[in-house]
Amino acid sequence: MSKTYEIAVVPGDGIGPEVCSAALETICAAAGRRAFNLVEHPAGAGHFRTHGTALPEETFAACKTADAVLHGAAGIPGVVYPDGTEAGIEFGLQLRFRLDLYANIRPIRLHPGVESPLKNMAAGDIDYVILRENTEGLYASRGSGTNLRDEIATDTLVMTRKGIERIARKAFELARRRNGAPLDGKKRVTVCDKANVLRSYAFFRKVCEQVAEDFPDVELDYGYADAMMVHMVRRPSFYDVIVTENMFGDIISDLGAVTVGGMGMSPSAEIGDSNGFFQAAHGSAPDIAGQGIANPIGTILAGAMMLEWLGERHQDRALTEAAGRIDKAVASVLAKGEALPPDLGGKERTTAVTAAICRAMDQQATAA
Ligand code: IPM
Ligand code: MN
Repeated sequence: MSKTYEIAVVPGDGIGPEVCSAALETICAAAGRRAFNLVEHPAGAGHFRTHGTALPEETFAACKTADAVLHGAAGIPGVVYPDGTEAGIEFGLQLRFRLDLYANIRPIRLHPGVESPLKNMAAGDIDYVILRENTEGLYASRGSGTNLRDEIATDTLVMTRKGIERIARKAFELARRRNGAPLDGKKRVTVCDKANVLRSYAFFRKVCEQVAEDFPDVELDYGYADAMMVHMVRRPSFYDVIVTENMFGDIISDLGAVTVGGMGMSPSAEIGDSNGFFQAAHGSAPDIAGQGIANPIGTILAGAMMLEWLGERHQDRALTEAAGRIDKAVASVLAKGEALPPDLGGKERTTAVTAAICRAMDQQATAA
């Protein structure tokens, strides 16, 4: 008997429900409906509005015990706490902190058939992974910074040796498994920081260097975060794995996404030692919510990352293969320009893009 995986499904706000159901349809088509026990839970800004909390404890408990969590998107403009910060995003942030999801893995890959806004970039020329430290850095101060008399506000950037070591180690291990940078085939880890300005970042760099000693086969490279924004535009092919602090990772991953077709294309996997949380890197896109025109590919690829993670964790080859089928189907639909959503210059609706990806998987099955 093959295992059934319990997936905590949190559709969330805005386009969240639309892209989430696209990903569910795709993983079921890839691995079979019976591979999953899909259980939906409320969270996000909508829930905050009606119930006063963006993350009910029952939802948290369910996410904690599930085999994996799949999220649509969170946030409604104007739904904020008294301190002005957004309430809806509490769900994802709390999951990161409370489940210790320290590795935020954000692949940036230019697919065939997708036009990059960068000149002369062909598929395969951009293929790197941003490893964003996900539990400390500047965002560790979420909810605990000070606002004194409405005159002085502070947030503290937090770095720990343990936190840096574990994300750096993941980065080098990932580089070892990959095929190197598109430009020169070299396995490379780029440490992105501002070690020139702040002690916290100098410490980040130092600890990364210490970890690098265990990986002599992987090239160690550095980039200041400001300069990285330039390099990621001018020579993206040089990059293989980029490891960085939480907020910098948040910022540079949006830039990375837009170089490979936009926010709609970029998946995100947030992994700890015991839990995995999967979503697209984009937000809830309230401007197009409910219209059925959101690009589901980011969330569909996040679904594939979920299957890959589950497959490895449970040594379940069927799931690993299912993940591969989704990646291949997405690539083929894009390459043929078969069913492109509006943000990629097409006219297809979310459901049509999803159906095309599922059809492509059927065709793989027939061809095999
Ligand atoms: C992301 C998002 C989140 C972040 C928000 C929604 C809390 O922008 O996952 O990149 O800032 O980390
Ligand atoms: Mn972000």
